[in-house]
Amino acid sequence: MTTTQHPLGSGFGATSTAEEVIKGIDLTGKVAIVTGGYSGIGLETARVLRAAGAEVVVPARDVERARTALKDVPGAEVGHLDLLDPASIDAFAEKILASGRPLHLLVNSAGIMATPLARDARGYEGQFATNHLGHFQLTTRLWPALVAAGGARVVALSSRGIRFAGVDFDDLHFEHRTYEPFVAYGQSKTANALFAVEVDRRGQAQGIRAFAVHPGLIVDTGLVKHLDPAALQAAGALDSEGRPVRDPERQMKTVQQGAATSVWCATSPQLDGLGGVYCENVDISPLVTPENEAAWAGGDSVPGVLSRAVDPEAAARLWEVSERLTA
Ligand SMILES: NC(=O)c1ccc[n+]([C@@H]2O[C@H](COP(=O)([O-])OP(=O)(O)OC[C@H]3O[C@@H](n4cnc5c(N)ncnc54)[C@H](OP(=O)(O)O)[C@@H]3O)[C@@H](O)[C@H]2O)c1
Repeated sequence: MTTTQHPLGSGFGATSTAEEVIKGIDLTGKVAIVTGGYSGIGLETARVLRAAGAEVVVPARDVERARTALKDVPGAEVGHLDLLDPASIDAFAEKILASGRPLHLLVNSAGIMATPLARDARGYEGQFATNHLGHFQLTTRLWPALVAAGGARVVALSSRGIRFAGVDFDDLHFEHRTYEPFVAYGQSKTANALFAVEVDRRGQAQGIRAFAVHPGLIVDTGLVKHLDPAALQAAGALDSEGRPVRDPERQMKTVQQGAATSVWCATSPQLDGLGGVYCENVDISPLVTPENEAAWAGGDSVPGVLSRAVDPEAAARLWEVSERLTA
């Protein structure tokens, strides 16, 4: 059954933290993989899932740095994986499958933003390859373990950056247009949202449900490393002393608040039987309408998702293209 892109009235909101939304949920016996689980939103997600009893595995391109970052998350496992290296993704997935463990929760939190133009060894544009294709390959390779869970959830970290661009199927890798860092980010984050739609459609019969998440604006993570702090100040995200501005009503959140929607999507019984939707502020987002699109685009206080980011036809097309690109 298709879930409508309409808020549930979860009772949580922009100020809710990951710890608050998971309260009372016991994940003993569940296995979770959190990509990017050694920094920012992913690290807080991994910490909270582990504290609720899940076995947590964090794939990392820098295993030693991940071990250090996870020193306060006792029992978290680290494995090697670089989303830009297809062989490492296959090797990581094979190890998980060989262990015979089912996979109940897959949170795809790793990501890069607004990087200078870079191409991977296949010539693919770096943000699309990291944020979407790497996660596509990982999720599809892990599919048997998700099926084995008999009720798995996949969470795809998207972003309000969907406003910068849809998926340009005619020029995914900026071979025929000028590279713009935020257009490339927007394309990759729209792809993340569409991916959740198609994972959910294909996975439902096998008990796999998927959700896309906009976590909010959290400037004290590693994501902003390619941005000029002066630009963040000009945008009002940092104060005059360079400290993060907190205003959850405008989605300017702490890491703990930023991880709340991911954790809710991964674990909440409120979402049982639902999927294929984009979420923010710990609820399903409404669709942006022609009436509120200008307000939505002009400020972070209006929640919503553009219809092009949850369009089932685009989602199906993206899946087929991604299969070819990662074959
Ligand atoms: N922060 C925000 O305001 C915000 C807003 C909207 C959406 N998001 C989304 O939320 C997610 C988490 O972002 P964050 O703010 O927590 O950023 P972060 O602190 O930079 O965390 C990103 C993680 O992704 C990992 N990563 C990047 N490239 C990788 C690769 N090739 N292979 C494996 N891992 C890789 C990073 O590892 P390294 O340290 O090795 O690079 C890091 O652990 C991202 O998908 C982002 O697009 C964030």
